[in-house]
Amino acid sequence: MVRLTIDNKKIKVEEGTTLLETAQKLNIEIPTLCHHQALKPYGACRVCLVEVIKGSRLGLVASCTYPAEEGLVARTETERVKRARRLSIELLLARCPTSEKVREVALELGVKKVRFKEEKEECILCGLCVRVCEEAIAKSAISFINRGADREVTTPFKIGSLACIGCGACVYLCPTGAIKIEDVRKCRRLDFWNTKLELKKCKVCGKHFVPLVELDYLKDRIKSFEEMELPEEALEVCPKCRKRILSEKAGEFIFGEKYP
Ligand code: SF4
Ligand code: FES
Repeated sequence: MVRLTIDNKKIKVEEGTTLLETAQKLNIEIPTLCHHQALKPYGACRVCLVEVIKGSRLGLVASCTYPAEEGLVARTETERVKRARRLSIELLLARCPTSEKVREVALELGVKKVRFKEEKEECILCGLCVRVCEEAIAKSAISFINRGADREVTTPFKIGSLACIGCGACVYLCPTGAIKIEDVRKCRRLDFWNTKLELKKCKVCGKHFVPLVELDYLKDRIKSFEEMELPEEALEVCPKCRKRILSEKAGEFIFGEKYP
């Protein structure tokens, strides 16, 4: 365990806890854009900056990546911290001026105008999509390429990904809405990743509902359908039909065969 102080509040936390997590335990709010509690911290957006005092040294650090240390003193609300966070969000706002989430955080931090040249990017390079695909889905269908101003997130060779299963985890976590997912007839389209995937047809209603590759992935992960008391055809039927079949079965179970 390590003992430290944040905004004059003392706390003891397990080694390996970050400053952000420690602050959250103390109900101290710190803005974030590239952080997700289920994924490894990456420290890309810099809106979570805090000031730390270590001995005679004073510095600004990203609280989502910085570990809590014995005797550390951190401050989250000093003028220097506020200025630094405003600069970070101003740069992101200049990059993605139409992103609602970025605009919302900018407003919270008191940034209404941008002094830098505005770009028309949709991606703030937070890396949430890359991390969720690698850490949670174990597919690594996308990654960062290039450095500096040319840095971007994309699929290998910028062509349709062979690893993408079209699960949409990246879409769900993307704070800017840069990644769109759409089912068009027999295909799931993720244009941001130049990827199109063939959809499975529901055995009951005939609607196309899940990418075939995602279905294979799910079957692989659900090692034993029997153990989970799941009929194997559960994945062959769309969610709407599955719900109807299950409620009919439940009705039969409760009211007998005459149901409904
Ligand atoms: S596409 Fe979205 S989730 Fe991925 S790095 Fe860009 S902003 Fe972050
Ligand atoms: S949340 Fe810490 S750098 Fe983005």
